[in-house]
Parts: sequence; structure tokens; C-alpha cells
Amino acid sequence: MANREDFLDLILYQVYPRSFCDSNGDGIGDLNGLRSKLDYLQELGINGIWLSPCYKSPNYDNGYDISDYRDIASDFGSLQDWKLLIADMHARGMKLLMDLVVNHTSSEHFWFKEARKSRDNPYHDYYIWAEKPLTDWTAVFGGSAWEYNEATKEYYLHSFAVQQPDLNWENPKVRKEACDIVDFWVNLGVDGFRCDVLDFISKDFKEDKMLNGPRLHEYINELFGRDKVKHIFTIGECQSDEKSIYDICGKDRNELTTVFQFDHIHIGRRNKYTPQEFSYNEIRDTLVKWQDFSAKNDLLYMLFTDNHDQPYYLSRLGNDKELRYESATALATAFYMLKGIPLIYQGQEFGSVNSFFEDIACFNDIETVNYFNEKVYNKPLDLLISEINYGSRDNTRRPIAWTNEQNNSFGFTAGKPWLQMPTRASEVNLQNDLLSQKSIFKFYKELLELRKDNFVIRRGEFIDLTNGQNDCFIFKRALDNQSFITVCNFKNKKDITLPKELLNNGYSLVLTNYPSRKDFSPAFEPFEVAIYKK
Ligand code: NOJ
Repeated sequence: MANREDFLDLILYQVYPRSFCDSNGDGIGDLNGLRSKLDYLQELGINGIWLSPCYKSPNYDNGYDISDYRDIASDFGSLQDWKLLIADMHARGMKLLMDLVVNHTSSEHFWFKEARKSRDNPYHDYYIWAEKPLTDWTAVFGGSAWEYNEATKEYYLHSFAVQQPDLNWENPKVRKEACDIVDFWVNLGVDGFRCDVLDFISKDFKEDKMLNGPRLHEYINELFGRDKVKHIFTIGECQSDEKSIYDICGKDRNELTTVFQFDHIHIGRRNKYTPQEFSYNEIRDTLVKWQDFSAKNDLLYMLFTDNHDQPYYLSRLGNDKELRYESATALATAFYMLKGIPLIYQGQEFGSVNSFFEDIACFNDIETVNYFNEKVYNKPLDLLISEINYGSRDNTRRPIAWTNEQNNSFGFTAGKPWLQMPTRASEVNLQNDLLSQKSIFKFYKELLELRKDNFVIRRGEFIDLTNGQNDCFIFKRALDNQSFITVCNFKNKKDITLPKELLNNGYSLVLTNYPSRKDFSPAFEPFEVAIYKK
């Protein structure tokens, strides 16, 4: 496994290429568009990018259904453009993580096209077949996880969409193919991978386990434990509890560098499409739990709130109307002052928010559209529309609003955007943010600069000092004789009992999101944060 020390200073940024920046006017973001924004990302303080899939794909699931693992989709440019991108990034000292999607391929991948022809085709065993469905599993995107294939008179397994058949990892040839794909990109210089639904690669039909099957660790070890790829950084997308997280990325495990942990993402909702009451204590307690667990077990923790599968955290758990600046900066402070690796999702750095569209035609995401079609006859339409607006993955997949020029697609494209721009784009865009007295981008930049300039924020010990107070989070980061104390007030204006050690101990205020803040005043405004340094 990679030497973790090499990655502890990373500040990652996720790019969903289709919606980031279009350079050629076809309405679709592309690699040259991304290249044109590297200066911007560098100014923000980013030193690594996780690039969502940009491989050839029929796009049933926007690139997470790959039909050629070794080439770039023409929508995004060419392999040559990709080589220029990585060269530009490396010249700036930025690392590039590609998305590795090897639980399934596209149904249009050559392997599957062959596999489905006959039972004795050499590629047939690359996938999972049965004469009768072996389980009653529902696919993640709805419907049965088993699909009938007339030519072989069998069913194949697809944990996600029908167009995403699961690979059969029991087959050593499949494992070898996955290793070869990894090696192909490593040889071209990539620094690591974000591994899509990696815990799905081992299943257990008898035990009714769609993921986290008995051979998971063996497979991951076979993929990434090899000497040749030991230097790369790997993040697994795995729905893991404490034990399995340790098993996947414990220092002695020879598997992954780290995983995403999703507990904080589930807060505030009953299910994907329905909110529920929550308390900010839940967010704090979850963060404290994982900070402590990571320290105790020497694990690397990913600090993130957003990605392309979730609506904006700010819209769900902050106040994205009257207190958009305050809550966006408070959430950023609560996460990015912790120990671990910050990951920012595109648009998050200037406070992007969810949209509201009345018409299902304005949505693209396969998960949303399938859910809508499944429910449209048994749910009142206005309820269904409000559900999908709340939970749809399209919220974070809408094109980035770079400018406030409405008739120029807000600087995203000179053409017609592939998906409608966010409904609040004329208010929430980067240009307006930079012109504002209260710029979220500028706050992010200062926060990340603080992190970069202070070893103690990157490596220091985490100590919770909240002392049971509600709706706030107070914590210290300490190393040798250096320390930071961060105070975050969530919710309403209130008095906070500050830790005794903060007072009269040589601390001074270094960053706040309220210019009115008076050093150690206990009175905190809604979503006010203050960072003190000694
Ligand atoms: C997780 C990805 O993040 C998501 O976007 C995708 O739809 C599924 N895996 C299936 O690949």
C-alpha cells in the first residue's frame, strides 16, 4: 500500500467533467475546459483532482457505464487532450485520481456484447449468469437486479442499471483485466484512483449479500497490493462500518489508502427523497466519532460533504437562503479544520445550491427518472416533484455557473448546456460571489491557505472541547507547542461557553465569517465560526 505520508497534504477537488466547463461550444464540459480552469483551482488551493469517469460510454449512467476503459469519450476530447491535462496538472504539482469503475461494465462493452451471445463464448464467464434469479435483489436504480437474456436463456446480474452488468470477479481473467486497466493508467502517470462501489465486487448469494462478500479483501489486495502500484493513492467507495473500514484500509492491510465514510451524509433524511428533522449535534457527534476512530486505528479520513451522487449538503443541512454565506463557510470550517484529506466538490467553493424544476423533462439522472416512473401512478405529482427536487443527483450535476451572464449559459458553454443550468444560477454564480463582500470562495481560499501553512492542522491531534453544548462544535488541533481552537456555532444566535484554555493563553483570532466578531466574546451569531491560533 502507498506510503500515506505522501498524501497527507492533499486538498482534493472532484470534477464531474460533463458539467464543469465546456471549451468547444457543444454544451458538454470537456477536458480542455478543465485545463482552462487549473489556474482557478490552484488559486483556490487545490493540489489534486478526482476526475469522475471520462472514458467511452453510452452514458446511461453518465460515464459510470464504461464501454472502453482505455480511451476518452469524444464528448470530453481525446486521449491526447487527457495527456495534456495530466502534464499541466503535474507541472503545477497537482495529482490526478481517475475513477475506476470495475464492479460493472456498460452493456455495450465488447466483453458483454460477446458474453451475451452464447454460453460457450470465451467472455461469457466475465459476467454473472443464472438460469433463474438467484436472489430477489432490487437493483440500486430500481427493478429486479436480474435481467433476462434471450440468446443464452439466462439472467445476468446488474446491481445498478440494466445497462450495467456486474463483472464476475470470481473469474481470474476478470481480475487480471482489472489489474491491466489499473496498470494502463498508472503507466500514463495517474497518481491514484477513486474506486466506484468497490465493496460490490464480492457477493454472497447464499448469504444474500449483494456487497461485502467473503472474497472482498482478497480481490482488493490482488488489485492494489502489487508492488508495481504500491505508490498510488486509492480511495474506495464502500459502505463500511468500523470493522470493515479497518480491514480495507488499516496500515498493515495492503489494500486501499482510504475509503469514503458516509455516516454524516445520511443525517437529516428519512430516505433519499424525504427529509427529516435533525440536530447539528448529530453532525458533530458523527465527526467526533470518526476523528477518534481514525486516530485510534491510524486511519486516513476523507473530509467531504458533497459529491455527484448527493444533493448539496448546504441546501439540505445549512440555510441556503438568508444565511447561505454563513452556513456554507461554517460547514466548511467544521469539516476542513479536522484531521484527514479535504475533498471539495465542484461549485461547493462558491456556495452552489439545489435547484427546483417542475417538469421531469428537466432531469437526466437515471436513478431519478426511474424513481419518478416507478412512483408516478401511485403518488400525488406535486409530492413526487418535491421529492425528486430534494433528493435528485441532478442537483449537483447541473452545469457550473461561472459568471452572471444569463444569455451566455452563465459562462459554462457558448452552446446549449446538456442539462439545464441550476434554477438559481443568476443569483448563485462564481462571478457574483467574487463581487460580494461575503465571498464564499475567498473564505474557502483563506481556510485552505491556513491548512497549507500550518502543519498542525494537517497532522495535529484532534481533541473535542464542545463539552456537551448543543448545536455547536468546538475542537482543538494540537501538535508540539502549536494549536488551533475552532468554534462553530450552528443554528441560532447564542452564547457559547468557550473552553477555559482559550482565554488568557496566548490564542489569537485568525479567521472568522463575521467581521463583527470580537475576539473571545461568547456571543455567536447564526452559523458564526471563529478559528484561534496559538
Ligand atoms: C457510484 C457512483 O458514484 C454513481 O454515480 C454511480 O451511479 C454508481 N456508483 C454506479 O456506478
